[in-house]
Amino acid sequence: MINPYIPRKVEILKILEESRDVKTLRLDVKGLRHKPGQFMELSVFGYGEIPVSISSSPTIEDYIDLSVKNVGSVTSAVHEAEPGDTVGVRGPYGRGFPVKEMGESDLLFVGGGIGLAPLRSFIDYIRDEREGYGDVSILYGARTADDMVFRQEYDDWQSMFDLHLIADVESEGWYGRVGFVNELLKDVSHEIKNTYAIVCGPSVMMKSVVKDLKSMQLPDEQIILSFERRMKCGIGKCGHCNIGGRYVCIDGPVFRYNEVRSYREIWG
Ligand SMILES: Cc1cc2nc3c(=O)[nH]c(=O)nc-3n(C[C@H](O)[C@H](O)[C@H](O)COP(=O)(O)OP(=O)(O)OC[C@H]3O[C@@H](n4cnc5c(N)ncnc54)[C@H](O)[C@@H]3O)c2cc1C
Ligand code: FES
Repeated sequence: MINPYIPRKVEILKILEESRDVKTLRLDVKGLRHKPGQFMELSVFGYGEIPVSISSSPTIEDYIDLSVKNVGSVTSAVHEAEPGDTVGVRGPYGRGFPVKEMGESDLLFVGGGIGLAPLRSFIDYIRDEREGYGDVSILYGARTADDMVFRQEYDDWQSMFDLHLIADVESEGWYGRVGFVNELLKDVSHEIKNTYAIVCGPSVMMKSVVKDLKSMQLPDEQIILSFERRMKCGIGKCGHCNIGGRYVCIDGPVFRYNEVRSYREIWG
């Protein structure tokens, strides 16, 4: 029997510097067939293994991107890696976004910080399969303009979608909006009945965005959330990622708000 914990060794083809503390590893993984919103377990040999969302579109067959923010021991080892190095991967794991069900609808992406990573996989998928979807708005906020990730995509997104950016605080050279990402919700005018909101970011941001979406009368089933929780196995065996009787690694990381609205671990 194949041992599900043994990672596949793959080469780093390229490293993209997204911001001062986020790097994208472009990995030599071909024909993965993932769904936007799914994640991989990434290991740096000798350091450990971490869950990371796949940030590239499933329409790309020659590689996958994993975009990693440097926050601790394994992620800092990821940041030391160089093109040509070998890392380990397992996956794809988890329940991704309900991509097919959202076809024909308007989509409102709301991302905060590195939370844009799983959304980028879906946004780039829609870019390549544009006729299947209605109006698309992308609202993205980061601490400063320098912390915004996937900047190389913005011209492309702007040409096809409605893109709004905001920085929490002012910084030199930033002439755009300043404030929290919620403020951008005032700029969108989708027909609520036909709109799905897809949200990923720090938990404080997710809470306040959900509150505002609720006050806009968006039905709970149309609020799609992607969660990060501490994980070990990624395959529903160890129990580390348990919230409210569900395992984020297999039942999530993508949940509809109606599935998780009663969980005090999330909403306090
Ligand atoms: C499904 C899923 C998808 C993810 N996708 C991405 C992604 O695309 N890009 C990315 O940069 N990160 C992502 N993460 C978070 C990433 O897994 C953690 O940042 C990583 O495990 C930290 O490992 P470390 O050894 O570097 O940090 P540690 O040394 O273990 O911890 C450093 C700090 O990070 C916090 N932390 C550790 N693990 C998590 C976690 N799972 N969630 C939130 N905070 C954590 C700790 O509390 C501590 O404050 C994802 C997590 C999950 C569960
Ligand atoms: S990470 Fe082990 S059960 Fe989810």
